[in-house]
Amino acid sequence: MKMVLASKNPHKLTEMKAILSQLGVEVVLESDVGVDVDVEETGTTFEENARLKAEAVMKAAGLPAIADDSGLCVTALGGGPGVYSARYGGEGLNDRQRYELVLQGLSGQMDRSAKFVSCICCCFPGGDVLNARGECPGLITYSPRGEDGFGYDPIFLVPETKKTFAQMTAAEKNAISHRGRALEVFRTELEQYLGGQHG
Ligand code: IMP
Repeated sequence: MKMVLASKNPHKLTEMKAILSQLGVEVVLESDVGVDVDVEETGTTFEENARLKAEAVMKAAGLPAIADDSGLCVTALGGGPGVYSARYGGEGLNDRQRYELVLQGLSGQMDRSAKFVSCICCCFPGGDVLNARGECPGLITYSPRGEDGFGYDPIFLVPETKKTFAQMTAAEKNAISHRGRALEVFRTELEQYLGGQHG
């Protein structure tokens, strides 16, 4: 099955492609099918934003489309930056400035608990919709650690591994990450959906 990946974030593309290709899905990019959709993420939940993106690309491409909306939720910041993770602190900031802002917000704060959340939505041209959610609990470090990854990876520690996401290989991160977990749920849903269609 051909599926359009409704994302322009190169890091997410690599992570999602790696996992989806194991499902026998032929992942194509918007640019591969001549589509360039700019969706305003006006939803207040990860689920709503993932749906907005997947639906818009499915309609434009006429093919099943899959989107992920994700972010970091920090307990002591009232669940923020949450759905605003990509634009936390304003549009002009880079990844490092954004995670510095989170560290500043937690200055003097003992509660470092946080979680990454990923919501995946897949929309089919016939109107069917599949949704999957994955979470990865962790702690916000006191200073950045590690060179790999993107976004808030250097300040997100997964206690069981004693590593931040930025200190993990791609395979290590995919095995436990919010996106990896959501894609695992999605894998099961897609298998059942396709089985139900053809069985
Ligand atoms: P989205 O493209 O609207 O889903 O924005 C998600 C934002 O959340 C990204 O720009 C990152 O700042 C952050 N984010 C989501 N997933 C990850 C991750 O795996 N590592 C680090 N930051 C992430």
